[in-house]
Amino acid sequence: MAQDTIVILDYGSQYSQLIARRVRETNVYCNIFSWQTDAEKILALNPRGFILSGGPNSVYDDSAPTLPAYLLESSVPVLGICYGMQLLTINAGGRVARSNHREYGPADLQLNVPDTPFFADWVMENGRVWMSHGDRVEKLPDGFIPLAHTANSPFAAIADVENGRYAVQFHPEVVHTKQGTLLLRNFVQNICGCTPDWTPAHFIDEQVDAIRAQVGNGRVVLGLSGGVDSAVAAALIHRAIGEQLTCIFVNHGLLRQDEALQVIETFEREQGMSLIAVNAIEEYMDSLVGITDPEQKRRIIGEKFIRIFEQEANKLGKIEFLAQGTIYPDVIESAGKDKKDAHLIKTHHNVGGLPDDIEFELIEPLRLLFKDEVREIGSALGLPDSIIWRQPFPGPGLAIRCLGEVTWDRLQHLRQADAIFVAELAAADMLRNGTQQSFAVLLPVKSVGVMGDGRTYQEVIALRAVTTEDFMTADWARLPYALLAKVSRRIVNEVDGVNRVTYDITSKPPGTIEWE
Ligand code: XMP
Repeated sequence: MAQDTIVILDYGSQYSQLIARRVRETNVYCNIFSWQTDAEKILALNPRGFILSGGPNSVYDDSAPTLPAYLLESSVPVLGICYGMQLLTINAGGRVARSNHREYGPADLQLNVPDTPFFADWVMENGRVWMSHGDRVEKLPDGFIPLAHTANSPFAAIADVENGRYAVQFHPEVVHTKQGTLLLRNFVQNICGCTPDWTPAHFIDEQVDAIRAQVGNGRVVLGLSGGVDSAVAAALIHRAIGEQLTCIFVNHGLLRQDEALQVIETFEREQGMSLIAVNAIEEYMDSLVGITDPEQKRRIIGEKFIRIFEQEANKLGKIEFLAQGTIYPDVIESAGKDKKDAHLIKTHHNVGGLPDDIEFELIEPLRLLFKDEVREIGSALGLPDSIIWRQPFPGPGLAIRCLGEVTWDRLQHLRQADAIFVAELAAADMLRNGTQQSFAVLLPVKSVGVMGDGRTYQEVIALRAVTTEDFMTADWARLPYALLAKVSRRIVNEVDGVNRVTYDITSKPPGTIEWE
């Protein structure tokens, strides 16, 4: 049975992905498209409803984005958010007032009409909403009524109930709108009539069927990095086709303590997959001798990965399919950016892709999922928390956290320091709660210290721990002094060649999370 689908038309809002995530949290499937996407592509999905995002424009700008014709003609419900509200208003004959200043921040919503399906279960006392807009609706179009207002906005929520047109001035998708998910749920379920059956179990069943249909008796190869995306893709494909899947794991020696072992343990022993683990440590170390430039490190590591992967895949005989852990944010098509390339190759080393002459058909079972959904699927497939909740780790691995030349000794020092930091964070129950990413960096400088009676001249470890929602911006984690003190003491005492530890207190921006 076809899935009920909501289409989100993106007008350039920074929140479009959030709208999609909130809708999916209500177990209804939705997809984001640029407002300029071809009508056929959208209508082929047979959407049960549309949500129009906000956007940076004024509807009066010369080249302002408009409503597509198919939407104006459509009889399925539409919810306009902010800029989407203004578009619906002027298209239905209302008026939008131009404003040069933005209303930005919280407001308290009051309902004009109790008991509408759109505001079903709304709790008055919890009516805080988040405003962020310039222009606003001044005169309602015929057929529209105000559903709710705030002190500053007489038309905070409006509707043409008969024609299924709803619009809100505030942003239901951001967490500051306390009952925002409720409103989106009311829209997709009560107004659009969607069945809330977008669940991990449903997704897994559907994908298992789709993978079996695509692969038939063919064989699939997948590059496993230990990261959550490729791990979940592997588990899902393995559930579908078992032995027809072979995973290749290239151990480049740039992983954290015990990580390579954990990958083999999890996938080969626990999940029973056919796994080829290639020990390429020496080869990588040889190729990194004397290299200090981070871009050069990335390039060497990426190219080597492709070559080794290719060699191993060739040894397997005829393989028709290449599976990848591509996820939705990698392929999303939106007004701001153009990532339409369906054949985008995602290797965990962020290189341009596999060579053109490799003739694989791609399998990307996670390409419609957000990261949190990937984790849910992984959990439903029985992967351990240690894989599912793994922090992001750069493809070139410790090479970019080992500043200066990458030698085996320096990597070992870094690994030990990192393991101490992570163990102490875990012991303090701060590994997931206190920070979203945390690691050690080995600096390419030496400084003086004193140990016992003698002076030392050794390297420096910088600790980095950040709090972040999306890794685009981040703040340094306010770790307890006692924890930092213990980590510092242990690193200096236990790790050879390190006599000083610093804690990085730079936010992003202007800093980055990694040091490189
Ligand atoms: P920055 O350092 O730019 O990092 O603030 C943002 C996030 O991206 C991760 N990162 C990488 N991930 N390959 C990856 O797969 C890379 O080359 C790479 N560089 C940075 C970083 O760990 C952080 O989570």
